[in-house]
Amino acid sequence: MLGLKLPTDPRWVNIVEKNIEDILTDHAYCEQKATSTAISLIVSFPEYTELVQEMVALVKEEISHFKMVHDKILENGWLLGRDRKDDYVIQLLTFFPKGGSRTTQLVHRLLYAALIEARSCERFRLLSEELEDKELAEFYRKLMVSEANHYTMFLGFARQYGDRKEVDIKWNELLEFEAQIMKDLSKKETIHG
Ligand SMILES: [Fe+2]
Ligand SMILES: [Fe+2]
Repeated sequence: MLGLKLPTDPRWVNIVEKNIEDILTDHAYCEQKATSTAISLIVSFPEYTELVQEMVALVKEEISHFKMVHDKILENGWLLGRDRKDDYVIQLLTFFPKGGSRTTQLVHRLLYAALIEARSCERFRLLSEELEDKELAEFYRKLMVSEANHYTMFLGFARQYGDRKEVDIKWNELLEFEAQIMKDLSKKETIHG
């Protein structure tokens, strides 16, 4: 599933279970960043009409996820905390060299987005299967279903706008790199940490 080269260590769920407030806060910002990424793609690549249309739909969906998570935080009597840096994303975004043609830059951004969606989806699935809190597990199951389409959409756009063969090679290399990053993670109460 999802093409990921290294599955998340299931012990990560035990870390998460001890700190639901932190995971929800981190998760809320993942949804906010997914929204911001979609807006940023519209601004950077306005001539890609089909992409713009899909990104508008995605902005609405991701911000509605943000609200779902925010509501969950409030339900528990907590307040949304401040955002913290996401080591996983920071490391991941170093993979492709900066610059290149507009199409190359677009392909790189689409592949990064596809991978972040794929890993998030994998982790939501793990939470939906392993969390002892059944209500929260169901919350993650629903989110997992709607996130699953995002990874295929981003990868599909990369293949559509770039050279199919080249894109597939880059995607595989990025998956290998991501697996290396993951080896040192799965130790924190964050969605990607
Ligand atoms: Fe989302
Ligand atoms: Fe998403």
